[in-house]
Amino acid sequence: MYPTIVINTKKMAENATTFLKMCSENGISTCFLVVKVLAGYVPAVSRLAKLGFTHLADSRIENLIRYKSIPIPKVLVRLPMGYDATRVVKYADISLNSELATIKALNDAAIVQNKIHGIILMFDLGDLREGIYYHDDFLPIVGEILNLSNISLVGIGTNLTCYGGVIPDEQNLSVLGEIKNRIEKRYQIKIDIVSGGNSSTVYLFNQNRIPQYVNNLRVGEAVFFGRETAYGKPILGMHNDVFTLRAVIIEIQKKPSYPIGNIGFDAFGMTPDITDEGMMLRAILSVGRQDVETVDLTPYDPRIKIVGASSDHLIVNLGKTKHKIGDILKFHVNYPGLLRLMTSPYVKKICRWE
Ligand SMILES: Cc1ncc(COP(=O)(O)O)c(C=O)c1O
Repeated sequence: MYPTIVINTKKMAENATTFLKMCSENGISTCFLVVKVLAGYVPAVSRLAKLGFTHLADSRIENLIRYKSIPIPKVLVRLPMGYDATRVVKYADISLNSELATIKALNDAAIVQNKIHGIILMFDLGDLREGIYYHDDFLPIVGEILNLSNISLVGIGTNLTCYGGVIPDEQNLSVLGEIKNRIEKRYQIKIDIVSGGNSSTVYLFNQNRIPQYVNNLRVGEAVFFGRETAYGKPILGMHNDVFTLRAVIIEIQKKPSYPIGNIGFDAFGMTPDITDEGMMLRAILSVGRQDVETVDLTPYDPRIKIVGASSDHLIVNLGKTKHKIGDILKFHVNYPGLLRLMTSPYVKKICRWE
């Protein structure tokens, strides 16, 4: 069945192993592998779980439910909804939190299930997505959390370079150190995990710039795409071609590049912005914007250019390449592209050790 996403599990495993080695060389003793981009695809995730990561993490509880028989601790990285407390406690060992009301709901669910649920208390150091704003007085909230019978405060953390594009550095990460010290001093406890971000923190590796108390990262893109996300640079020794989209040509016709007639809207209600490049050999492939956006794809063959797409049709300029109906074209995908493709039920997923 096509379109297909082929996952090169050999390259994926090599990336994971290389990354874990880099973590241990940089004082990161626990790494949560964030597998949300695999959208609940068990064959790939079960392989990854055997490679040495301490925890599997996902943003969706539905995915963690799919992974319930994979024997590794699980982390929910999106703040839970109170409504979901029962499922969160049942399927996640740890969740990231910033709201006392939700943490109390988790405690109630944990009491019913006779479990201790771990939480990492998130602090917003300026990126302005989740977390307690670091200027606020957080100590009373910590006091309340510590009074909850079935909640264990296993750590503190931050998330950067997601909404505001803020890059982690010694300065903003040092705030986590201050927060840790204040909590430990005030309540005479030990904060075990200090989670210093995601793939955007990876650029600090091998520069002696990650503060010593940062001992955890939650990482997806760096492992799957071999790139850090602060500046988008490739990570030396890692593969950036783990995932390939294969799609089938269903039409090849020589046609003008510029539409003929009065121009209104395209299939998505936008005014088309098309350059006249004269006649071209155009192919249509059976994949579309319901599955992936064109900006997230790059043809393997540099002579082939993507022209556009509607919901079910991807149009390419074949240039001087020779193809026939039924041929399969290959595309590199980026992280957002993979996320959409893996989520689409119309795209087949395959693991290949190659
Ligand atoms: C809270 C949190 N931590 C970590 C990650 C992993 O991010 P990345 O894939 O950039 O490493 C994500 C994103 O999925 C996230 O939402």
